[in-house]
Amino acid sequence: MPASVKLLDGADGSTERVVLCGPDGASAEVYLYGATITSWTSRGVERLFVSAQAKLDGSRPIRGGIPLVFPQFGPGELPQHGFARTRKWVLVDSEARGVSAVANLELRDDEDTRASKWPYAFSLRYTITLTATTLSAIMKIENFDDREFSFTALQHTYFRVADIATTTVTGLDGAVYADKVRGTTGTTERRAQVTVAGNEDRVYADVPGTITVGCGKHRVRIQRFNFKDIVLWNPWADKSAEMSDFGDSEYKTMICVEPGAVAKPVTLRPAQMLSCGQLLTVDDAADAEL
Ligand code: BG6
Repeated sequence: MPASVKLLDGADGSTERVVLCGPDGASAEVYLYGATITSWTSRGVERLFVSAQAKLDGSRPIRGGIPLVFPQFGPGELPQHGFARTRKWVLVDSEARGVSAVANLELRDDEDTRASKWPYAFSLRYTITLTATTLSAIMKIENFDDREFSFTALQHTYFRVADIATTTVTGLDGAVYADKVRGTTGTTERRAQVTVAGNEDRVYADVPGTITVGCGKHRVRIQRFNFKDIVLWNPWADKSAEMSDFGDSEYKTMICVEPGAVAKPVTLRPAQMLSCGQLLTVDDAADAEL
């Protein structure tokens, strides 16, 4: 089937979303609400996790997929993780090119954002490109103001895994992290294969190279552009029970590995622009390797 891009109007009670179909049955789905990618299938496997309790009606940030964090990571003067994940974005254009399907979304400042604690004129372009085995998600942040501005940004990627107990993350070895659960900073990761066995919330700063997330034969490679930091998050049992839009046992089938620029804010002068984002590539082990 040739690649295609369609806008669905959300007649089923959820809000509008863009459905991208690529070669070999690959697909992706993006809500205009928050420009949140809620599904990515490649080689017949769903790669992203969305909670069964997630609200898809625009009443709160979508719990899962790839919500966008901008212009503030975590708590602060703005609501937690900033406003981009709760604004309605515009689908600017889309294209199906045979081997790839592309959607371009945009968020600009409006009355509400100008009245917020981050009142600047900006444009945030988000280009999502799907091929048979890749999903690229690139943000272009542009300063249209006559003042400089600073921000933090992140792609809060929830990966679906068969079992958190056998899930490993590679590429963090040697990186220094702040541990938000234990309240420590400046610890160096010494594991080549990072595993999670409890509530984890870590910000690894300045991580070079490629990261992989693997479970069983399924593996996804993360390559980053101007996103030097990686947040690793799993709420585990107690925190899960506190979240109304997350099932009590769902922590067993997800892991958040979130590329971003969060350890230090980024500053853009008027008319300056930054491109940042990630390329996810399916890198499943061949049956013969198992
Ligand atoms: C992670 C943060 O990126 O997002 C965590 O490091 C936070 O501290 C998590 O709990 C989820 O945030 P939220 O606002 O989507 O519940």
